[in-house]
Amino acid sequence: MIARRPALAVFVIALGTSAAFTGAQAPTSSLTGTAKLAGGGVEGVVVSARAAGSNITTSVLTDGRGEYVFPPLDGGPYDVWAQATGYQTARASLAIEGGRQAHQAFTLNAIDDITPQLSASEWFSAMPEETKEQRRMKAIFRTNCTACHGPTHALQNRFDENGWRAEVMFMERMTGTGGINRHTTVAHYRDELARYLASLRGPASPPLKFTLQPRPSGDAAHVVFTEYDVPLAGSRLERAWLDGSDWSIGWPTASLGARWIHDIVPDNDGNAWGTRDRGPADMSLFKIDTKTGDVTGYIIRDGKTIRRSHSITKDSNGIIWFDGGNGPLGRLDPRTETFEMFTPPLNMGGGQLTTVDWNPQGKIWGATNRGANRFDPETNTWTHYESPTWSNNFVYGTATDAEGNGWWTQYTADKVVKADPKTGKTYEVAMRPPWVNVDDVTTAADREWYQAMGVMTWGNLNTVPYGQQPRRMGADKRGEYVWVPNNVGNNVARINIHSLEVKYYRVDGNPYFVTVDKDSNVWTNLFSDAKVARLNPRTEQWTYYTLPSRCESRNISVDDLRGDVWVPCANTSRVIRMHPRTAAEIEALK
Ligand code: HEC
Repeated sequence: MIARRPALAVFVIALGTSAAFTGAQAPTSSLTGTAKLAGGGVEGVVVSARAAGSNITTSVLTDGRGEYVFPPLDGGPYDVWAQATGYQTARASLAIEGGRQAHQAFTLNAIDDITPQLSASEWFSAMPEETKEQRRMKAIFRTNCTACHGPTHALQNRFDENGWRAEVMFMERMTGTGGINRHTTVAHYRDELARYLASLRGPASPPLKFTLQPRPSGDAAHVVFTEYDVPLAGSRLERAWLDGSDWSIGWPTASLGARWIHDIVPDNDGNAWGTRDRGPADMSLFKIDTKTGDVTGYIIRDGKTIRRSHSITKDSNGIIWFDGGNGPLGRLDPRTETFEMFTPPLNMGGGQLTTVDWNPQGKIWGATNRGANRFDPETNTWTHYESPTWSNNFVYGTATDAEGNGWWTQYTADKVVKADPKTGKTYEVAMRPPWVNVDDVTTAADREWYQAMGVMTWGNLNTVPYGQQPRRMGADKRGEYVWVPNNVGNNVARINIHSLEVKYYRVDGNPYFVTVDKDSNVWTNLFSDAKVARLNPRTEQWTYYTLPSRCESRNISVDDLRGDVWVPCANTSRVIRMHPRTAAEIEALK
Protein backbone atom coordinates (compact mmCIF):
# COMPACT_ATOMS: atom_id res chain seq x y z
CA MET A 1 0.00 0.00 0.00
CA ILE A 2 1.27 3.47 -0.83
CA ALA A 3 1.05 6.53 1.36
CA ARG A 4 1.83 9.94 -0.04
CA ARG A 5 4.20 12.37 1.56
CA PRO A 6 2.10 15.03 3.24
CA ALA A 7 2.80 18.66 2.65
CA LEU A 8 4.84 19.83 5.56
CA ALA A 9 5.81 23.13 7.02
CA VAL A 10 8.94 23.33 9.13
CA PHE A 11 9.74 26.41 11.19
CA VAL A 12 12.87 26.98 13.18
CA ILE A 13 12.91 28.85 16.44
CA ALA A 14 16.04 29.78 18.32
CA LEU A 15 15.88 29.08 22.01
CA GLY A 16 18.69 31.27 23.21
CA THR A 17 22.32 30.42 23.60
CA SER A 18 24.73 29.87 26.40
CA ALA A 19 28.24 31.04 27.01
CA ALA A 20 30.67 29.14 24.84
CA PHE A 21 32.22 26.28 26.73
CA THR A 22 34.45 24.28 24.46
CA GLY A 23 37.76 23.61 26.06
CA ALA A 24 39.36 20.86 23.97
CA GLN A 25 42.40 23.08 23.32
CA ALA A 26 44.29 23.08 26.61
CA PRO A 27 46.38 19.97 27.13
CA THR A 28 46.06 19.83 30.91
CA SER A 29 43.25 19.78 33.44
CA SER A 30 41.89 23.12 34.64
CA LEU A 31 40.61 21.69 37.91
CA THR A 32 41.86 18.85 40.07
CA GLY A 33 41.45 18.00 43.72
CA THR A 34 40.41 15.45 46.29
CA ALA A 35 37.28 14.36 48.08
CA LYS A 36 36.94 12.28 51.22
CA LEU A 37 33.99 11.04 53.22
CA ALA A 38 33.89 11.87 56.92
CA GLY A 39 33.03 8.26 57.75
CA GLY A 40 35.95 6.93 55.68
CA GLY A 41 36.17 6.17 51.96
CA VAL A 42 37.36 8.29 49.07
CA GLU A 43 36.48 6.51 45.83
CA GLY A 44 33.52 7.10 43.51
CA VAL A 45 32.57 10.56 44.80
CA VAL A 46 30.89 12.55 42.01
CA VAL A 47 32.36 16.05 41.57
CA SER A 48 30.50 18.54 39.35
CA ALA A 49 31.43 21.98 37.99
CA ARG A 50 29.28 24.59 36.34
CA ALA A 51 30.37 27.97 35.00
CA ALA A 52 28.27 30.97 36.03
CA GLY A 53 25.47 31.52 33.52
CA SER A 54 26.19 28.35 31.58
CA ASN A 55 23.72 25.58 30.78
CA ILE A 56 26.47 22.96 30.90
CA THR A 57 27.59 20.97 33.95
CA THR A 58 30.70 18.79 33.80
CA SER A 59 31.24 15.93 36.28
CA VAL A 60 34.01 13.46 37.07
CA LEU A 61 34.56 10.88 39.83
CA THR A 62 37.28 10.36 42.40
CA ASP A 63 39.67 7.43 42.08
CA GLY A 64 40.95 5.02 44.73
CA ARG A 65 43.17 7.78 46.17
CA GLY A 66 40.27 10.22 46.34
CA GLU A 67 41.63 12.31 43.46
CA TYR A 68 39.56 13.81 40.68
CA VAL A 69 40.72 15.36 37.41
CA PHE A 70 38.49 17.53 35.21
CA PRO A 71 39.06 17.93 31.50
CA PRO A 72 40.16 21.42 30.35
CA LEU A 73 37.41 23.96 31.10
CA ASP A 74 36.93 27.52 29.92
CA GLY A 75 38.00 30.29 32.29
CA GLY A 76 35.56 32.07 34.60
CA PRO A 77 33.77 31.71 37.92
CA TYR A 78 32.49 28.22 38.75
CA ASP A 79 30.27 26.48 41.27
CA VAL A 80 31.80 23.14 42.20
CA TRP A 81 30.17 20.45 44.36
CA ALA A 82 30.86 16.88 45.49
CA GLN A 83 28.29 14.16 46.31
CA ALA A 84 27.96 10.60 47.53
CA THR A 85 24.86 8.82 48.79
CA GLY A 86 24.63 9.12 52.58
CA TYR A 87 26.52 12.44 52.70
CA GLN A 88 25.72 16.14 52.53
CA THR A 89 26.63 17.88 49.32
CA ALA A 90 29.92 19.76 49.78
CA ARG A 91 30.09 23.03 47.81
CA ALA A 92 32.72 25.52 46.74
CA SER A 93 33.01 28.51 44.41
CA LEU A 94 36.24 29.12 42.55
CA ALA A 95 37.69 30.82 39.51
CA ILE A 96 39.33 29.01 36.66
CA GLU A 97 41.97 31.10 34.94
CA GLY A 98 43.53 30.22 31.62
CA GLY A 99 46.81 28.35 31.95
CA ARG A 100 46.50 27.80 35.72
CA GLN A 101 45.24 24.63 37.32
CA ALA A 102 42.71 25.21 40.11
CA HIS A 103 42.55 22.82 43.09
CA GLN A 104 39.71 22.08 45.46
CA ALA A 105 39.59 19.63 48.36
CA PHE A 106 36.20 18.44 49.69
CA THR A 107 35.24 16.67 52.91
CA LEU A 108 31.69 15.29 52.92
CA ASN A 109 29.78 14.96 56.22
CA ALA A 110 27.22 12.25 56.85
CA ILE A 111 23.57 13.20 56.36
CA ASP A 112 20.87 12.39 58.97
CA ASP A 113 18.06 11.29 56.69
CA ILE A 114 19.33 9.45 53.64
CA THR A 115 15.89 8.47 52.32
CA PRO A 116 15.62 11.26 49.68
CA GLN A 117 18.93 10.12 48.18
CA LEU A 118 18.16 6.41 47.88
CA SER A 119 17.80 4.70 44.53
CA ALA A 120 14.95 2.37 43.58
CA SER A 121 17.17 -0.67 44.12
CA GLU A 122 18.20 0.49 47.59
CA TRP A 123 14.55 0.87 48.59
CA PHE A 124 13.58 -2.51 47.20
CA SER A 125 16.45 -4.35 48.84
CA ALA A 126 15.41 -2.90 52.21
CA MET A 127 11.72 -3.87 51.94
CA PRO A 128 11.24 -7.10 53.91
CA GLU A 129 10.43 -10.34 52.13
CA GLU A 130 10.68 -13.01 54.82
CA THR A 131 7.01 -14.01 54.69
CA LYS A 132 4.85 -14.85 51.68
CA GLU A 133 2.61 -11.89 52.52
CA GLN A 134 5.59 -9.51 52.54
CA ARG A 135 6.76 -10.84 49.19
CA ARG A 136 3.27 -10.52 47.72
CA MET A 137 2.67 -6.93 48.89
CA LYS A 138 6.15 -5.85 47.86
CA ALA A 139 5.48 -7.22 44.38
CA ILE A 140 2.05 -5.55 44.23
CA PHE A 141 3.71 -2.25 45.17
CA ARG A 142 6.52 -2.76 42.66
CA THR A 143 4.27 -3.59 39.73
CA ASN A 144 1.61 -0.95 40.49
CA CYS A 145 3.55 1.96 41.89
CA THR A 146 6.92 2.20 40.15
CA ALA A 147 6.20 2.41 36.43
CA CYS A 148 5.47 6.18 36.31
CA HIS A 149 7.93 7.23 39.01
CA GLY A 150 10.44 5.39 41.15
CA PRO A 151 9.80 4.19 44.71
CA THR A 152 11.93 7.01 46.10
CA HIS A 153 9.32 9.56 45.09
CA ALA A 154 6.46 7.42 46.40
CA LEU A 155 8.09 6.53 49.74
CA GLN A 156 10.01 9.64 50.73
CA ASN A 157 7.22 10.87 53.02
CA ARG A 158 5.46 9.06 55.86
CA PHE A 159 1.65 8.85 56.16
CA ASP A 160 -0.76 6.94 58.37
CA GLU A 161 -3.12 4.39 56.82
CA ASN A 162 -5.75 7.02 55.92
CA GLY A 163 -3.08 9.24 54.42
CA TRP A 164 -1.78 6.39 52.31
CA ARG A 165 -5.31 5.51 51.19
CA ALA A 166 -5.72 9.11 49.99
CA GLU A 167 -2.41 8.88 48.09
CA VAL A 168 -3.42 5.59 46.49
CA MET A 169 -6.78 7.05 45.44
CA PHE A 170 -4.95 10.03 43.96
CA MET A 171 -2.84 7.56 41.96
CA GLU A 172 -5.97 5.73 40.75
CA ARG A 173 -6.81 8.97 38.98
CA MET A 174 -3.41 9.46 37.37
CA THR A 175 -3.76 9.20 33.64
CA GLY A 176 -0.23 10.13 32.71
CA THR A 177 0.58 7.04 30.71
CA GLY A 178 -2.33 6.64 28.35
CA GLY A 179 -2.39 3.03 27.25
CA ILE A 180 -1.16 1.56 30.50
CA ASN A 181 -4.28 0.51 32.28
CA ARG A 182 -3.09 -0.16 35.78
CA HIS A 183 -5.71 1.74 37.68
CA THR A 184 -7.92 -1.31 37.99
CA THR A 185 -5.35 -3.18 40.07
CA VAL A 186 -4.46 -0.10 42.12
CA ALA A 187 -8.14 0.30 43.03
CA HIS A 188 -8.51 -3.42 43.73
CA TYR A 189 -5.60 -3.35 46.20
CA ARG A 190 -6.37 0.11 47.62
CA ASP A 191 -6.92 -0.97 51.25
CA GLU A 192 -4.18 -3.58 51.27
CA LEU A 193 -1.72 -1.07 49.80
CA ALA A 194 -2.71 1.59 52.35
CA ARG A 195 -2.12 -0.87 55.22
CA TYR A 196 1.13 -2.14 53.75
CA LEU A 197 2.55 1.34 53.04
CA ALA A 198 1.57 2.54 56.53
CA SER A 199 3.45 -0.44 58.00
CA LEU A 200 6.58 0.47 56.00
CA ARG A 201 6.32 4.26 56.01
CA GLY A 202 3.87 5.15 58.78
CA PRO A 203 4.45 7.95 61.32
CA ALA A 204 5.96 5.51 63.84
CA SER A 205 7.04 2.53 61.75
CA PRO A 206 10.62 1.46 62.51
CA PRO A 207 13.23 2.65 60.01
CA LEU A 208 14.08 0.23 57.21
CA LYS A 209 17.61 -1.13 57.18
CA PHE A 210 19.18 0.22 54.02
CA THR A 211 22.27 -1.23 52.42
CA LEU A 212 23.88 1.27 50.10
CA GLN A 213 25.11 0.07 46.75
CA PRO A 214 28.85 0.33 46.15
CA ARG A 215 30.06 3.63 44.73
CA PRO A 216 31.46 3.51 41.20
CA SER A 217 35.02 2.29 40.71
CA GLY A 218 37.18 1.09 37.82
CA ASP A 219 35.62 1.73 34.38
CA ALA A 220 32.55 3.29 36.02
CA ALA A 221 34.75 6.00 37.61
CA HIS A 222 36.77 6.66 34.44
CA VAL A 223 34.16 8.82 32.77
CA VAL A 224 33.38 12.47 32.13
CA PHE A 225 29.75 13.52 32.17
CA THR A 226 28.53 16.59 30.33
CA GLU A 227 24.99 17.66 31.19
CA TYR A 228 23.07 20.07 28.98
CA ASP A 229 20.07 21.93 30.38
CA VAL A 230 17.39 22.35 27.76
CA PRO A 231 15.70 25.68 28.50
CA LEU A 232 12.02 25.65 29.26
CA ALA A 233 11.12 28.64 27.14
CA GLY A 234 12.80 31.56 25.42
CA SER A 235 15.42 32.20 28.07
CA ARG A 236 18.34 29.91 28.67
CA LEU A 237 18.17 30.73 32.37
CA GLU A 238 14.71 29.32 32.75
CA ARG A 239 15.34 25.74 33.75
CA ALA A 240 13.31 22.99 35.35
CA TRP A 241 12.41 23.95 38.92
CA LEU A 242 14.39 20.99 40.14
CA ASP A 243 17.27 19.89 37.95
CA GLY A 244 18.20 16.80 39.99
CA SER A 245 21.70 18.11 40.67
CA ASP A 246 21.30 18.18 44.47
CA TRP A 247 20.74 14.58 45.51
CA SER A 248 19.51 15.47 49.00
CA ILE A 249 16.41 17.25 47.64
CA GLY A 250 15.02 13.92 46.45
CA TRP A 251 13.86 12.79 43.03
CA PRO A 252 12.26 15.41 40.82
CA THR A 253 8.87 14.73 39.28
CA ALA A 254 7.65 15.83 35.90
CA SER A 255 5.01 18.17 37.18
CA LEU A 256 7.71 20.43 38.57
CA GLY A 257 8.08 22.39 35.36
CA ALA A 258 9.82 20.16 32.86
CA ARG A 259 10.06 19.73 29.15
CA TRP A 260 9.64 15.97 29.33
CA ILE A 261 12.53 15.08 27.08
CA HIS A 262 11.78 11.60 25.88
CA ASP A 263 14.60 10.39 23.63
CA ILE A 264 17.99 11.60 22.48
CA VAL A 265 20.29 10.59 19.64
CA PRO A 266 23.72 11.92 18.65
CA ASP A 267 24.22 12.74 14.96
CA ASN A 268 27.41 11.95 13.05
CA ASP A 269 28.85 15.40 13.90
CA GLY A 270 28.45 14.73 17.63
CA ASN A 271 25.50 17.09 18.16
CA ALA A 272 22.40 15.65 19.80
CA TRP A 273 18.76 15.60 18.68
CA GLY A 274 16.03 15.21 21.27
CA THR A 275 12.31 14.68 21.35
CA ARG A 276 9.70 16.58 23.36
CA ASP A 277 6.87 14.36 24.48
CA ARG A 278 4.97 16.67 26.82
CA GLY A 279 5.78 20.00 28.48
CA PRO A 280 5.78 23.41 26.80
CA ALA A 281 4.29 23.07 23.30
CA ASP A 282 6.75 25.44 21.64
CA MET A 283 8.73 22.90 19.63
CA SER A 284 8.50 19.41 18.17
CA LEU A 285 12.10 18.41 18.61
CA PHE A 286 15.39 20.12 19.37
CA LYS A 287 19.10 20.05 18.67
CA ILE A 288 21.91 20.62 21.14
CA ASP A 289 25.13 22.05 19.75
CA THR A 290 27.46 20.10 21.99
CA LYS A 291 30.32 22.61 21.66
CA THR A 292 28.39 25.69 22.77
CA GLY A 293 25.41 24.17 24.59
CA ASP A 294 23.08 26.14 22.30
CA VAL A 295 19.65 24.57 21.96
CA THR A 296 17.56 25.09 18.82
CA GLY A 297 13.91 24.06 18.68
CA TYR A 298 12.25 22.88 15.46
CA ILE A 299 8.55 23.04 14.83
CA ILE A 300 6.58 20.56 12.79
CA ARG A 301 2.96 21.51 12.50
CA ASP A 302 -0.04 19.25 12.39
CA GLY A 303 -2.72 21.61 11.19
CA LYS A 304 -2.68 24.35 13.80
CA THR A 305 -0.98 22.39 16.56
CA ILE A 306 2.70 21.80 17.06
CA ARG A 307 3.53 18.12 16.96
CA ARG A 308 5.13 16.29 19.83
CA SER A 309 7.82 13.69 19.20
CA HIS A 310 8.61 10.53 21.08
CA SER A 311 11.25 8.06 19.85
CA ILE A 312 14.27 8.92 17.72
CA THR A 313 17.04 6.84 16.14
CA LYS A 314 19.89 7.23 13.66
CA ASP A 315 20.42 4.79 10.80
CA SER A 316 23.77 3.60 9.38
CA ASN A 317 23.78 6.47 6.85
CA GLY A 318 23.43 9.08 9.57
CA ILE A 319 19.77 9.80 8.75
CA ILE A 320 17.57 10.36 11.80
CA TRP A 321 14.09 8.81 12.07
CA PHE A 322 11.50 9.71 14.67
CA ASP A 323 7.83 9.36 15.37
CA GLY A 324 5.64 12.38 15.71
CA GLY A 325 4.42 11.47 19.21
CA ASN A 326 1.73 8.93 18.35
CA GLY A 327 1.79 10.20 14.80
CA PRO A 328 3.51 9.81 11.45
CA LEU A 329 7.09 8.77 10.78
CA GLY A 330 9.59 11.62 10.51
CA ARG A 331 12.84 11.66 8.54
CA LEU A 332 15.53 14.21 9.30
CA ASP A 333 18.79 14.79 7.49
CA PRO A 334 20.82 16.44 10.28
CA ARG A 335 23.41 17.89 7.86
CA THR A 336 20.85 19.90 5.88
CA GLU A 337 18.26 20.05 8.67
CA THR A 338 15.51 19.00 6.27
CA PHE A 339 12.47 17.14 7.54
CA GLU A 340 9.97 14.89 5.77
CA MET A 341 6.93 13.19 7.27
CA PHE A 342 5.36 9.91 6.16
CA THR A 343 1.91 8.89 7.36
CA PRO A 344 1.02 5.20 7.47
CA PRO A 345 -2.38 4.33 5.97
CA LEU A 346 -5.23 4.55 8.45
CA ASN A 347 -5.97 0.84 8.29
CA MET A 348 -2.41 0.07 9.42
CA GLY A 349 -2.65 0.62 13.13
CA GLY A 350 -4.59 3.85 12.98
CA GLY A 351 -1.96 5.73 10.98
CA GLN A 352 0.13 6.29 14.09
CA LEU A 353 3.50 5.12 15.32
CA THR A 354 4.75 5.15 18.88
CA THR A 355 8.37 3.96 18.59
CA VAL A 356 10.71 3.47 15.63
CA ASP A 357 13.91 1.60 14.69
CA TRP A 358 16.01 1.06 11.52
CA ASN A 359 17.71 -2.00 10.08
CA PRO A 360 20.81 -2.62 7.92
CA GLN A 361 18.47 -3.38 4.97
CA GLY A 362 17.37 0.26 5.02
CA LYS A 363 13.83 -0.37 6.30
CA ILE A 364 12.20 1.46 9.20
CA TRP A 365 9.89 -0.28 11.65
CA GLY A 366 7.38 1.55 13.81
CA ALA A 367 5.16 0.18 16.57
CA THR A 368 1.42 0.69 16.26
CA ASN A 369 -1.33 -0.14 18.71
CA ARG A 370 -1.77 -3.77 17.60
CA GLY A 371 1.54 -4.66 15.99
CA ALA A 372 4.10 -2.85 13.88
CA ASN A 373 4.53 -1.31 10.43
CA ARG A 374 7.50 -1.65 8.12
CA PHE A 375 8.29 1.35 5.94
CA ASP A 376 10.40 1.10 2.81
CA PRO A 377 11.88 4.56 2.10
CA GLU A 378 12.94 3.49 -1.43
CA THR A 379 9.43 2.71 -2.63
CA ASN A 380 7.49 4.73 -0.05
CA THR A 381 5.41 1.68 0.88
CA TRP A 382 4.12 0.39 4.17
CA THR A 383 3.46 -3.17 5.36
CA HIS A 384 1.52 -3.94 8.52
CA TYR A 385 2.13 -6.89 10.86
CA GLU A 386 -0.40 -7.77 13.54
CA SER A 387 0.33 -9.37 16.93
CA PRO A 388 -0.66 -13.08 16.71
CA THR A 389 -2.69 -12.94 19.91
CA TRP A 390 -5.29 -10.27 19.53
CA SER A 391 -5.76 -8.06 22.46
CA ASN A 392 -5.88 -4.37 22.94
CA ASN A 393 -2.42 -4.84 24.34
CA PHE A 394 -0.34 -1.79 24.47
CA VAL A 395 2.54 -2.21 22.02
CA TYR A 396 5.47 -0.43 23.58
CA GLY A 397 8.92 -0.80 22.07
CA THR A 398 9.97 -1.91 18.63
CA ALA A 399 13.25 -3.07 17.11
CA THR A 400 14.44 -4.53 13.87
CA ASP A 401 17.33 -6.95 13.76
CA ALA A 402 20.41 -7.65 11.63
CA GLU A 403 18.36 -9.76 9.20
CA GLY A 404 15.52 -7.27 8.83
CA ASN A 405 12.94 -8.99 11.05
CA GLY A 406 10.64 -6.74 13.04
CA TRP A 407 10.12 -7.08 16.80
CA TRP A 408 7.82 -5.44 19.34
CA THR A 409 6.82 -5.79 22.97
CA GLN A 410 3.22 -6.30 24.07
CA TYR A 411 3.66 -4.45 27.33
CA THR A 412 0.45 -5.50 29.02
CA ALA A 413 0.72 -9.16 27.97
CA ASP A 414 4.40 -9.74 28.85
CA LYS A 415 5.02 -10.90 25.28
CA VAL A 416 7.53 -10.17 22.56
CA VAL A 417 6.56 -10.64 18.91
CA LYS A 418 8.81 -11.34 15.93
CA ALA A 419 7.60 -10.69 12.37
CA ASP A 420 9.53 -12.20 9.47
CA PRO A 421 8.89 -10.07 6.37
CA LYS A 422 10.24 -12.83 4.08
CA THR A 423 7.43 -15.21 5.04
CA GLY A 424 4.93 -12.81 6.59
CA LYS A 425 4.83 -15.08 9.67
CA THR A 426 4.73 -13.81 13.25
CA TYR A 427 6.01 -15.55 16.39
CA GLU A 428 5.37 -14.94 20.08
CA VAL A 429 7.87 -15.17 22.92
CA ALA A 430 6.57 -15.01 26.52
CA MET A 431 8.63 -13.13 29.09
CA ARG A 432 8.74 -15.40 32.12
CA PRO A 433 12.10 -15.69 33.91
CA PRO A 434 12.67 -19.13 35.45
CA TRP A 435 12.91 -17.71 38.97
CA VAL A 436 9.35 -16.31 38.90
CA ASN A 437 7.13 -18.26 41.28
CA VAL A 438 3.52 -17.21 40.69
CA ASP A 439 2.10 -19.20 43.61
CA ASP A 440 4.57 -17.61 46.02
CA VAL A 441 3.49 -14.03 45.30
CA THR A 442 -0.26 -14.50 44.78
CA THR A 443 -3.17 -15.96 46.75
CA ALA A 444 -5.86 -18.21 45.26
CA ALA A 445 -8.22 -15.21 45.44
CA ASP A 446 -5.72 -13.07 43.50
CA ARG A 447 -5.43 -15.69 40.77
CA GLU A 448 -9.19 -16.06 40.49
CA TRP A 449 -9.59 -12.28 40.13
CA TYR A 450 -6.78 -12.08 37.55
CA GLN A 451 -8.52 -14.80 35.53
CA ALA A 452 -11.78 -12.87 35.64
CA MET A 453 -10.03 -9.63 34.60
CA GLY A 454 -8.19 -11.16 31.63
CA VAL A 455 -4.76 -10.44 33.11
CA MET A 456 -1.99 -10.94 30.50
CA THR A 457 -4.62 -11.68 27.82
CA TRP A 458 -7.62 -9.62 26.75
CA GLY A 459 -7.74 -7.51 29.91
CA ASN A 460 -4.89 -5.16 29.00
CA LEU A 461 -3.48 -5.70 32.50
CA ASN A 462 -0.18 -7.01 33.75
CA THR A 463 0.26 -4.98 36.93
CA VAL A 464 0.33 -8.19 38.93
CA PRO A 465 3.11 -9.51 41.17
CA TYR A 466 4.69 -11.69 38.49
CA GLY A 467 4.36 -9.04 35.72
CA GLN A 468 7.49 -8.17 33.75
CA GLN A 469 6.27 -5.10 31.80
CA PRO A 470 8.66 -5.35 28.81
CA ARG A 471 9.33 -1.83 27.51
CA ARG A 472 11.66 -0.64 24.74
CA MET A 473 13.70 -3.39 23.16
CA GLY A 474 16.85 -3.16 21.07
CA ALA A 475 18.59 -5.31 18.47
CA ASP A 476 22.23 -6.14 17.88
CA LYS A 477 22.53 -4.92 14.26
CA ARG A 478 25.64 -7.08 13.81
CA GLY A 479 24.63 -10.19 15.74
CA GLU A 480 21.89 -12.71 16.29
CA TYR A 481 20.17 -11.38 19.38
CA VAL A 482 17.51 -8.90 20.35
CA TRP A 483 17.33 -7.66 23.94
CA VAL A 484 14.25 -6.89 26.03
CA PRO A 485 14.18 -4.70 29.18
CA ASN A 486 11.67 -6.32 31.54
CA ASN A 487 11.07 -3.12 33.41
CA VAL A 488 9.53 -4.20 36.72
CA GLY A 489 10.94 -7.73 36.42
CA ASN A 490 14.44 -6.28 37.03
CA ASN A 491 15.98 -8.25 34.18
CA VAL A 492 17.01 -7.98 30.56
CA ALA A 493 16.09 -10.88 28.29
CA ARG A 494 18.23 -11.99 25.35
CA ILE A 495 16.32 -13.63 22.49
CA ASN A 496 18.04 -15.55 19.71
CA ILE A 497 16.51 -14.25 16.47
CA HIS A 498 16.55 -17.75 14.87
CA SER A 499 15.75 -20.23 17.64
CA LEU A 500 13.77 -17.73 19.80
CA GLU A 501 15.60 -19.19 22.80
CA VAL A 502 15.54 -16.77 25.76
CA LYS A 503 18.16 -16.12 28.41
CA TYR A 504 17.46 -13.71 31.30
CA TYR A 505 20.03 -11.46 32.96
CA ARG A 506 19.09 -9.99 36.33
CA VAL A 507 19.94 -6.31 36.71
CA ASP A 508 19.85 -4.04 39.80
CA GLY A 509 17.15 -1.58 38.83
CA ASN A 510 14.28 -1.08 36.38
CA PRO A 511 15.63 -1.22 32.80
CA TYR A 512 13.61 0.90 30.38
CA PHE A 513 15.36 0.86 27.02
CA VAL A 514 18.10 -1.34 25.57
CA THR A 515 20.58 -0.43 22.88
CA VAL A 516 23.54 -2.41 21.59
CA ASP A 517 26.89 -0.84 20.66
CA LYS A 518 29.21 -1.82 17.80
CA ASP A 519 31.05 -4.31 20.04
CA SER A 520 27.75 -6.02 20.95
CA ASN A 521 27.80 -4.61 24.50
CA VAL A 522 24.27 -4.14 25.80
CA TRP A 523 23.40 -0.78 27.38
CA THR A 524 20.32 -0.05 29.44
CA ASN A 525 19.10 2.95 31.43
CA LEU A 526 17.93 2.11 34.93
CA PHE A 527 14.88 4.35 34.99
CA SER A 528 14.58 5.08 38.72
CA ASP A 529 18.15 4.42 39.85
CA ALA A 530 19.78 7.33 37.93
CA LYS A 531 22.25 4.83 36.52
CA VAL A 532 23.11 3.24 33.25
CA ALA A 533 24.39 -0.32 33.04
CA ARG A 534 26.46 -2.11 30.45
CA LEU A 535 26.32 -5.88 29.99
CA ASN A 536 29.39 -7.40 28.42
CA PRO A 537 27.88 -10.40 26.59
CA ARG A 538 31.19 -12.27 26.64
CA THR A 539 31.77 -12.13 30.41
CA GLU A 540 28.02 -11.74 31.19
CA GLN A 541 28.96 -9.08 33.78
CA TRP A 542 27.19 -5.76 34.35
CA THR A 543 29.03 -2.49 34.94
CA TYR A 544 26.95 0.19 36.67
CA TYR A 545 27.56 3.88 35.98
CA THR A 546 26.09 6.44 38.42
CA LEU A 547 24.71 9.52 36.68
CA PRO A 548 25.72 12.89 38.18
CA SER A 549 22.12 14.07 38.68
CA ARG A 550 18.82 12.41 39.53
CA CYS A 551 17.49 11.53 36.12
CA GLU A 552 14.48 9.35 35.33
CA SER A 553 15.27 8.34 31.76
CA ARG A 554 13.19 6.55 29.16
CA ASN A 555 15.88 6.08 26.58
CA ILE A 556 19.62 5.59 26.07
CA SER A 557 21.70 5.80 22.92
CA VAL A 558 25.32 5.09 22.07
CA ASP A 559 27.57 7.07 19.76
CA ASP A 560 29.65 4.37 18.09
CA LEU A 561 31.85 7.03 16.45
CA ARG A 562 32.99 8.54 19.77
CA GLY A 563 32.26 5.89 22.40
CA ASP A 564 29.79 8.21 24.15
CA VAL A 565 26.56 7.18 25.84
CA TRP A 566 23.59 9.60 25.90
CA VAL A 567 20.66 9.69 28.32
CA PRO A 568 17.70 12.11 28.29
CA CYS A 569 16.13 13.15 31.61
CA ALA A 570 12.38 13.62 31.22
CA ASN A 571 11.69 15.23 34.57
CA THR A 572 14.57 17.69 34.71
CA SER A 573 14.82 18.86 31.09
CA ARG A 574 18.41 17.71 30.94
CA VAL A 575 20.44 15.60 28.59
CA ILE A 576 23.50 13.71 29.82
CA ARG A 577 26.49 12.60 27.77
CA MET A 578 28.91 10.08 29.28
CA HIS A 579 32.36 9.91 27.73
CA PRO A 580 34.77 7.12 28.76
CA ARG A 581 38.43 7.87 29.39
CA THR A 582 41.36 5.61 30.15
CA ALA A 583 43.54 5.83 33.25
CA ALA A 584 46.37 6.99 30.95
CA GLU A 585 44.24 9.81 29.53
CA ILE A 586 43.42 10.97 33.07
CA GLU A 587 47.10 10.76 34.07
CA ALA A 588 48.10 12.84 31.03
CA LEU A 589 45.76 15.64 32.08
CA LYS A 590 47.33 16.07 35.53
C1 HEC B 1 -0.03 6.35 36.02
C2 HEC B 1 1.19 6.85 36.60
C3 HEC B 1 1.35 6.67 38.12
C4 HEC B 1 1.21 5.51 38.84
C5 HEC B 1 0.88 4.13 38.34
C6 HEC B 1 1.47 5.86 40.21
N1 HEC B 1 1.79 7.17 40.31
FE1 HEC B 1 2.27 8.17 42.03
N2 HEC B 1 2.45 9.88 40.99
C7 HEC B 1 2.30 10.02 39.62
C8 HEC B 1 2.58 11.38 39.23
C9 HEC B 1 2.57 11.94 37.81
C10 HEC B 1 2.89 12.06 40.43
C11 HEC B 1 3.29 13.51 40.58
C12 HEC B 1 2.19 14.35 40.98
C13 HEC B 1 2.73 15.71 41.32
O1 HEC B 1 3.95 15.93 41.25
O2 HEC B 1 1.95 16.54 41.70
C14 HEC B 1 2.80 11.10 41.51
C15 HEC B 1 3.02 11.39 42.85
C16 HEC B 1 3.02 10.47 43.88
C17 HEC B 1 3.21 10.79 45.28
C18 HEC B 1 3.49 12.17 45.84
C19 HEC B 1 2.16 12.82 45.92
C20 HEC B 1 2.14 14.00 46.82
O3 HEC B 1 1.25 14.05 47.67
O4 HEC B 1 3.01 14.88 46.67
C21 HEC B 1 3.10 9.62 45.98
C22 HEC B 1 3.21 9.44 47.49
C23 HEC B 1 2.82 8.58 45.02
N3 HEC B 1 2.80 9.13 43.76
C24 HEC B 1 2.61 7.27 45.37
C25 HEC B 1 2.22 6.29 44.46
C26 HEC B 1 1.79 4.97 44.84
C27 HEC B 1 1.77 4.43 46.26
C28 HEC B 1 1.43 4.32 43.70
C29 HEC B 1 0.88 2.93 43.57
C30 HEC B 1 -0.40 2.73 44.20
C31 HEC B 1 1.64 5.25 42.59
N4 HEC B 1 2.11 6.43 43.10
C32 HEC B 1 1.39 4.95 41.26
C33 HEC B 1 1.99 9.02 38.72
C34 HEC B 1 1.72 7.71 39.05
